Amino acid sequence: MKVGVAKETAPGERRVALVPEGLGKLTAAGLEILVERGAGDGAAIPDSAYAEAGATVVSTVDLYRQSDVILRVQKPSDSEVKVMRKGQAVLGLLQPLIDPKTAAALAEQGVTAISLDAIPRTLSRAQSMDALSSQANVGGYKAVLIAANEYGRYFPLLTTAAGTAKPANVLILGIGVAGLQAIGTARRLGAVVKAYDVRPETREQAESLGAQFVKLKTTIDATGAGGYARELTPEERAAQQAELNEVIGGMDIVITTAQVPGRKPPVLVTAEAVAQMKPGSIIVDMAASALGGNCELSRAGKTITTDNGVTIVSPDNLPATMPAGASAFYARNISSLLLGMVKNGQLDLDFDDEVTKATVISKDGEVIAEPVKKLLEPATAASIPGGAA
Ligand code: NAI
Repeated sequence: MKVGVAKETAPGERRVALVPEGLGKLTAAGLEILVERGAGDGAAIPDSAYAEAGATVVSTVDLYRQSDVILRVQKPSDSEVKVMRKGQAVLGLLQPLIDPKTAAALAEQGVTAISLDAIPRTLSRAQSMDALSSQANVGGYKAVLIAANEYGRYFPLLTTAAGTAKPANVLILGIGVAGLQAIGTARRLGAVVKAYDVRPETREQAESLGAQFVKLKTTIDATGAGGYARELTPEERAAQQAELNEVIGGMDIVITTAQVPGRKPPVLVTAEAVAQMKPGSIIVDMAASALGGNCELSRAGKTITTDNGVTIVSPDNLPATMPAGASAFYARNISSLLLGMVKNGQLDLDFDDEVTKATVISKDGEVIAEPVKKLLEPATAASIPGGAA
């Protein structure tokens, strides 16, 4: 079976789905690896490194023509979908819940689409495949480095002949995978770190990394399904905001990572809270997207400085800004998923397997993932807001 590694075409994407160090495991399983010319350029991996590791470097046309399975980081573009063929499979972070149309287009081409963002995250066997976690980890690390870079002072306590620098006060909002890495990184840089989340079990995790957990007087337990957070009620949100505003005012750096599956990111840093921060303070909003962010003033993909001198950075695709490191982790995730689906050198999908069941989005010309199917259903009067009941 021929496994092709595509060159990413999404704007700003510098990661690549496989790195040369990972090829041995795949070739040992009887797979032949094709790499699209220049696929590793963004991550500083030359074609020659793939060739030395046993892959064949091919043109774009040959990659799409010859590959039985195509590995990629992001979903294919419309024109890439069009050159894919019946019976081919594609693995990547396809985001079918955000972009069900691409999933439908892949199904129409007869492509088996397998999405890494649908991997069941709490299944221990699937941990090695959890690309959302590996990439969130990179993001959490990079967010702190951005904050340190923007900040005009030191992170650690420094005592020198020229005087003493006070350590930076850092607040991490949202203690999931990215938040935990952000705590660890800020601590390693010597900052004094506080952290807050609506899932009570995160307290111990934050403290074990050396952060002080911010305990609000209004206790909120918003543990939702699958270990994720649920959306807060308006009353809970108001109580949380009033208390958080006080904490935020005393911070030099705020890094926000809070997400609620299928919902807009919650606003945790209001314009009022930003107005109370000192000039020179930095906010990095990892949740900022076109849907909004955790900071009311964030502008996705932009850096702004407010009238009171607070810089708000809303980075886009942080893992792509550390392409070699992020690709190395991602390569392990995608290889692990693929190898679990290969028998005797061929893709052999077993729908009794939990990972296969969760990740295969389309097969035999149809979208088979129920949540994606639902999104593709034509809107009925009842489902249109304000429509007939
Ligand atoms: P996420 O990206 O969905 O959200 C980040 C954090 O924001 C979460 O910790 C969430 O509780 C928090 N949050 C949401 N609303 C908030 C609010 N209003 N105020 C403050 N914080 C808020 O989370 P991520 O990083 O994807 O992790 C989701 C869950 O999956 C976690 O429970 C994590 O421990 C779990 N997980 C489990 C794994 C395993 O068991 N192997 C692997 C990876 C994740």
